[in-house]
Parts: sequence; C-alpha cells; structure tokens
Amino acid sequence: MSTKVTRTWTVNGEKKVVEVLPLRRLLDVLREDFGIKGTKEGCGEGECGACTILLDGQPVCSCLIGAGQILDGSEIMTVEGLEKTEGGRILQEAYMEKGAAQCGICIPGMLISSYALLNSVSDPDEALIRKSHAGNLCRCTGYEKIVEAIQLAAERWPTGISNIKHRTLIRHR
Ligand code: FES
Ligand code: FES
Repeated sequence: MSTKVTRTWTVNGEKKVVEVLPLRRLLDVLREDFGIKGTKEGCGEGECGACTILLDGQPVCSCLIGAGQILDGSEIMTVEGLEKTEGGRILQEAYMEKGAAQCGICIPGMLISSYALLNSVSDPDEALIRKSHAGNLCRCTGYEKIVEAIQLAAERWPTGISNIKHRTLIRHR
C-alpha cells in the first residue's frame, strides 16, 4: 500500500497543500481535491490534450502526471488562472470572435497551449501554431477557426506580459 506524500504548490497564484497518494493523477487532484474543474478529461491516456495545464510554464497533460512527481514549489496554471491574465483575456475574446469553440471540451486545454505559444513566440506562423497545438485534438471545429483565433490573438498580444518560464512549445508525454 502506497504512502501518501505532502506537496505544496502554487495553483493559479494560490498556495495549495495536498496530502496525496504519489500516483494520483494531477487531473484528479485539481478537479476533485481542489474543486478546480475547468480542466477537462477526454481520453485519460495522453492523446487528446483536453487536460492540458501549465506546469512551471510548460504545457503538460495532467492525466499523465502523478502528484508525487511534482516537486514542492511548483507552479500550476489551469484555465481558471489563465482567464485572470491579460493574455488569457485576449485569447478568450479572439476565440469567441472567431467562433472557435463548439462543444467546448477541448477549449481549456487549447487555450493553455495557445497561451504557452504566444508567451514564447508572439508572431508564430501558421505551421508553428499547428505544430504547437498538435497534441490538442478537437472533434468539432476542423481547427481552422482555432488557428484564426490564435492568429488574431497574436496580432493583439502585447510584449512582455509573460512572467513564467517556457522551456519548450511541444507537449511532453
Ligand atoms: S485527458 Fe486526453 S490527454 Fe489527458
Ligand atoms: S470544440 Fe468540441 S472538441 Fe473542440
């Protein structure tokens, strides 16, 4: 029987302490233990990107990460934290203006990936937009409106709004 570990993280700017089994998925800690339900579960296998969050500035699938793998002091951002940022607001408006969301299941993870991209490269070309969102699957939109929304957000993206580290644009699985 596994022993619980205690972890202290900053989640959406707030300090959170959790006592948890090491293999409990971060997705479940966020949704069930913390009640932060914006992050969605699609496949539960690292394939769809619906559960994407930022871990220390890097987009990752929260369904694949055990709580015990996340170091004390780590910073986690979900879509709830994102919407409090200027970049998050710009992205939400752009997605709405372009009609880029339909059922919405993919959108929290998609927005997180968009934010990570634009904080790293403020004027990405279409190829980079598609590559950096390759891990975010959408069964509704055909992706065109999502790409257009990210391009619109890029036009409005102010420089210097990021205060988080971005080591890579490509999701780690
Ligand atoms: S739920 Fe599909 S990648 Fe995590
Ligand atoms: S809007 Fe339905 S899966 Fe993307």
